[in-house]
This record gives sequence, C-alpha cells and structure tokens, in this order.
Amino acid sequence: MNRSHNNGELRLSHVGQQVELIGWVAKKRNLGALIFIDLRDRYGITQVIFDESFEEKLKEVKNEYILQVKGTVVERSSKNSKMPTGDIEIQADSFTIINTAKLTPLIVADETDALEETRLQYRYLDLRRPMMQNNIMTRHKITRSIREYLDDLDFIDIETPYLNRSTPEGARDFLVPSRVHQGAFYALPQSPQLFKQLLMVSGFERYYQIARCFRDEDLRADRQIEFTQVDVEMSFMSTDQILTIGEGLIAKVMKDVKGIDIQLPLRRLTWHEAMERYGIDKPDTRFGLELVNLNEVVKDVDFAVFKNALENHGHVKGINVENQAQAYSRKKIDQLTELAKTYKAKGLAWLKVTDQGVQGPIAKFFSEEQMEHLLKAMNAKDNDLLLFVSDTKYEVVCDALAAIRNHLGKELKLYDPHTFAFLWVVDFPMFEYDDETKRYYAKHHPFTRPKDEDIDKLESDPEHCLADAYDIVLNGYELGGGSQRIYEQDLQERAFKALSFTQEQIDAQFGWFVEAFQYGTPPHGGFALGLDRIAMLLCERDSLRDVIAFPKNTSATCPMSKAPTNVALAQLDELGIEVKEYESKED
Ligand code: AMO
Ligand code: AMP
Repeated sequence: MNRSHNNGELRLSHVGQQVELIGWVAKKRNLGALIFIDLRDRYGITQVIFDESFEEKLKEVKNEYILQVKGTVVERSSKNSKMPTGDIEIQADSFTIINTAKLTPLIVADETDALEETRLQYRYLDLRRPMMQNNIMTRHKITRSIREYLDDLDFIDIETPYLNRSTPEGARDFLVPSRVHQGAFYALPQSPQLFKQLLMVSGFERYYQIARCFRDEDLRADRQIEFTQVDVEMSFMSTDQILTIGEGLIAKVMKDVKGIDIQLPLRRLTWHEAMERYGIDKPDTRFGLELVNLNEVVKDVDFAVFKNALENHGHVKGINVENQAQAYSRKKIDQLTELAKTYKAKGLAWLKVTDQGVQGPIAKFFSEEQMEHLLKAMNAKDNDLLLFVSDTKYEVVCDALAAIRNHLGKELKLYDPHTFAFLWVVDFPMFEYDDETKRYYAKHHPFTRPKDEDIDKLESDPEHCLADAYDIVLNGYELGGGSQRIYEQDLQERAFKALSFTQEQIDAQFGWFVEAFQYGTPPHGGFALGLDRIAMLLCERDSLRDVIAFPKNTSATCPMSKAPTNVALAQLDELGIEVKEYESKED
C-alpha cells in the first residue's frame, strides 16, 4: 500500500511536496468550512486539513478509521510546538477509507479515563496509545542494546528448555502435565539457572539468553508470573570481572536508550552496610535520610520499649527527618506509626527538637547527658523530627524504618524522580533462617558459592556465612542478581546439606545436575537482570504492566483472553487428570 512518508516525519522542509499518508483517525474536528483530521501511526501524528468539498464524504469517517490520504504539505498558520510535526499540515486532495472501526471502549490517546481492567481487556487498543507504543519501543531499544553489547563481548545466545523439571529459585512452580507419561509433570523454568551452568560445563564459556521465566507467586506492581530475564553466565571470571561486565551493560543501555552517561564503576555496598544504613538490601540512594544504629547510645535509657529490645539481643535504630518537626503533626506521626506497624513494628517512638528543648512522649526517659548523646549521634538540629523503632528482631527494625524512609523520601520530595541511582549490593548472607519451618533457606539459590574465606562456616556457622553473590539495584528496585557458583561436587553437596536436603532428596532432585560436576566443570558465575523492571524504570512507570505488551492483571488473569480457563473434560481425561472441584469458569 502506498505511503510516501510516515506520520511522524514531515517538517517545514517538506512544504510544497505531494505526499501520501496512511493512518488511524485520532481526532476529527469540524471548524466551519474546514475539517481537521489527526492521522496517527506508530511514528506520530500528522494533521490533515480538508476543505468543504469533502464535507459529505467525511461525514461517515469516525475515530480509529484507517485512511489513506493524498495531499500537499503546507505550513501551518497556527503552529503546535508540542508536536514534532506541528509546523506543517497536509492539504488533502483525496482520501480513501481503508477500514472502518467500531466506537472504541477506551479513548485511544495518552490521556484516557479507562480503568486498567478495561485497558487490559482491549489491550490491542490500549497499545495504540502513543505512550504505550513508546514504552514497547523503548523495551525493544533496551533488548537491542543488550544484544549488541553481549554479542560484541563474544557471548552466545542459547535457548534452554521451557519444559523440564523444577528449578529451585524459591517460588512455586507452574506445572505442565504430561500426556505421554500420565501422572508426571514438567515444571516451567523459574529461571534457566541449571541449564546455563551446564552450558559452562559444555565449554561455551560465555552464554546469554533473553529468557522468559515463570514463577507462581502473588503479583505486585513489580512482579509478574511470567517475566523476562537477561540471563548471563561466564566461565573463568573473577567477581570483579563479572560486575564490570554487568555494569558495562547497564551503562550502554542508559547511553543508547536514555542518552545518559552513568559513572562507572558503580558504587558498591555490602549487604550488611545496606541494611545498617538503609534497612533494606535494595536501597533507594537518591536521597539521604539514613538509619542510625542507636544500640550503644540508648543502652542506659530507662524507656521500657528500648530496654526490653536490647536486653533480648534486639536493636534500636532511628532516622532524623531534618527540618520537619513543625510540619509533622501528631496525626501525621500517627500515620507513620501505622505504616511502621504494617511492617510488624510494635510502634514508632519520636522526638521533636524545638527551641524549647526536645519534646515528645519519650523525652522524659532521657537524662540530659543521654539526650545530648542521642542528638549528637543523629546529628540533630533545631526543628528536626527524630523517629525510632526498636525490636528484638533486626529485620523488623530495618523493614519498618526502610518503609518509613521510602515513604518520606517520596512525600518530602527528597529526590528528583527523573534521576537514576544504580549500585551493587555485594556479600549477601548465604542463608536465611525461617522461624516457622526452623531451617535455613538459600538467600539466593542453592548453587551460589560461599565466599572462599567462609566455606568452613557452611556447617559451623551458617548464619554468618557470606555468599559471593550480588544484586544490582536502581532507585529502590532490585534490577538483577547473580553469583559465583559452586563448581565442585562435594561442595555442592555440602551446600545442599546445609539447606537440610537429605542425600535421597539431593540424588532424586539434583543428581542429574551434580553429576555433571564430575567431568571438568570450570569455575563460573553470572547474573540475571529483570528486563521488565529495567524497561519500567527507564520508561519512568511504576507498574510492569505498562511495559509488557500482554501482561496479567493483579489476580493473575488476562482480562482479554480470560486465561486461565477451564478445559474440556475430555482434555483432562487424556492427561489422566481429575479436578477436585470442577467449576465452570467460562463467562
Ligand atoms: P533472581 O531470582 O534474583 O535470580 O531473578 C533475577 C531478576 O529477575 C527479576 N524478577 C522478576 N521480574 C518480574 N517479575 C517477577 N516475578 C520476577 N522475579 C524476578 C528481578 C530479579 O532481580 N537464576 C538467578 C540469577 C543468577 O544467579 O544468575 C535468578 O533468577 O529483576
Ligand atoms: P507505649 O509505652 O506503648 O505507650 O509507647 C510509647 C511510645 O513508644 C509510643 O509512641 C509508641 O508508638 C512507641 N513504641 C512502642 N513500641 C515501640 C517500638 N517497638 N519501637 C519504637 N517505638 C515504640
């Protein structure tokens, strides 16, 4: 079909040219004798002007019709500086209707009042909106940039199976029943972790894949059940070398997609330091408001809450909200307290530094000297608001204050939302203890290598055993993570045992994998970046759903296709599956 230009490219330099355009009718306005139509395609919008001779024929043309227009480029008398094509318009000579369209259930424009459910139900229309087109194109630019970078560094793109057995990344598996082997199931990969390690055993040395991963977990704004990883693995590289490759990749994407030079090497924080200073392993470092450890400072203060916590090996931490004492009323502090409580804190203690001294319900528990100590430790000045959480559990103190810190950072506009703060968090603990099941879980995954100097702690002191693992963090989001891997069979078995796997479980679940380690496994390591999250943050959106063409909604369904649905009983029969409660989910 003929078109001489797209709808985003005509400028003043084209004035006088005969052109042919094709596009969707984004808007039609009747101004007396003249009729204006905005023609839209993925490149942009061009205004077409029709004289009164077209009036009759244009009556039937509605929004989202597809038109082919022939005409001449003319300079506009009233220019629109907001549109790249805003200096010109097309004086139409003729037009053809290529297709008609029903009245759309949502306004196809950046400004739409449609609910997200409607947007997802008519996703193909939602994706016509320029903003969504931009997001999807930005995502494409990101993957192109990533492929260029990795190709240049000799990484090979290799696909790994979707249908295999479960990989223990910590989430629930999606299972796929086998028809041929009734009662047996494939598990969709939570990540290509085991296969990329086996590709190292195979000698490929540098692997990457833009891989779809599946995890049956509760959805959040930054979590989908199927998502995409930029998955990378390499042999014979030190952790420093791996991080250099990882941050080089991010730097190229930032340059190619956003035109921003980020400074390398990226800042590195140990996990411990991140927890101490920000209370979280994915800190938003665009602003200060750091946590202060007060265990020593308040140890003699006669406030029961602090005292009880400290006597039970607990913690007291505070943050100084500078210059906000007057701005934070009792009511606003109560709201912060509620926020702290959603993170299991039992309360939020506070003090205000005023010109009449330090005020607040816990001021009376401090001697003059203790108060002086506290103010010094928190670098507190007049009109500062000081907030405190104490608990016997370190995580509770950290979680609650990290949430308050993030909340205040946003509320007080402590950072420019258009900036990007990357960092590495390194030296994660190997294990996480679960109080309920009373056992250790892998903080990363069971193939993560302990730091060389901590290998002996696997059995003797798992709590303090650090992993050679790292995460890359951007603006408070975990963008990706990785580690050096265990490459010795005996060490892998020790790691499994530390995770309370029995020998039978190891043999049954991982025997096939660990066996490979006997045939000359190179030292190797890598990482995986969440592509959806990178796209979301680079598009400055706060939901992954805005950067995935066809995402699931928060209840893990697709409002367009209505997936998941029931299947015919005959289909289940073939698989040898009986459903306990078969309730028709067809609408
Ligand atoms: P991990 O589990 O940390 O590591 O995942 C890597 C990155 O993938 C993204 N991600 C998600 N994005 C959207 N929705 C989800 N449900 C979701 N889950 C994870 C995050 C995360 O940082 N095999 C290891 C990597 C390795 O060791 O090489 C792994 O999968 O951005
Ligand atoms: P209470 O003694 O329970 O009345 O609490 C006095 C103050 O301490 C209130 O402001 C509570 O919100 C606060 N508070 C209670 N528990 C904690 C805690 N675990 N950490 C910090 N402050 C707390």
